[in-house]
Amino acid sequence: MRRPILFGNWKLNHRHKDLTAFTAEFKSLMSSREPECDFGFAPVATLLSEATRSFKGSGASIAAQDIHSFASGAFTGTISAEHAVDAGAQFVIIGHSERRAYFAEDDTSVNAKVRRALSVGLTPIVCVGEPLSIRDAGGHEKFVKSQVTSALQDLSSDEASTIVIAYEPVWAIGTGKSATPEMAQEMHAAIRETLSSLFGRSAAEKVRIQYGGSVKASNAAELMAMPDIDGALVGGASLRADSFVAILDALN
Ligand code: PGA
Repeated sequence: MRRPILFGNWKLNHRHKDLTAFTAEFKSLMSSREPECDFGFAPVATLLSEATRSFKGSGASIAAQDIHSFASGAFTGTISAEHAVDAGAQFVIIGHSERRAYFAEDDTSVNAKVRRALSVGLTPIVCVGEPLSIRDAGGHEKFVKSQVTSALQDLSSDEASTIVIAYEPVWAIGTGKSATPEMAQEMHAAIRETLSSLFGRSAAEKVRIQYGGSVKASNAAELMAMPDIDGALVGGASLRADSFVAILDALN
């Protein structure tokens, strides 16, 4: 059985004061809960260390929102996998559609970052997903399979089995328009098939595939009921402790 995994992606939101208020409320809500899943948050890079301290004891892990593909050097304005580890992160989101759209992230750099993350013991949360035009033209499965194949190039089956994939259709992110559970399941099954052909059935069965795109408490349970949906990557609804915890409840 795959252990469900829920992450909140705070994107360019929440400052130090917000983190303090969030963790206080989160810890009080969690004191009466023992969720049977992994969960955590991806704050902005400047808050990684403080978030690691502040969430301690709550069961939450910390994820970086991105890393550079080099360990160090003349690369102004970014952080490396090592910096993320230093700050206490155990996960890193790689290839989010906003990085691909606004920061020229491509499949080659996604693959380089995935390999860097694994080399320092960070678990990559690899984001894939099609834009609306591709889905309308019927090419969504082919598109996502190709993103998965490129992102995981040169990984061993053992490495591949440890990663998390987030299927996030671009048209569902921040729009309030989630994929239906059936649409998401269809793609998750196709992703698992791709993993199986690349790394073997046993590795593919271990990979946790999150759904992302307008997940909230009201639609989380029906999405999570699907056999290949193993959790969620949540943007907007993760910005408040109560709405994140309501999704956590729906997962259990
Ligand atoms: P959303 O964002 O939940 O606000 O749609 C999801 C994401 O970008 O990971």
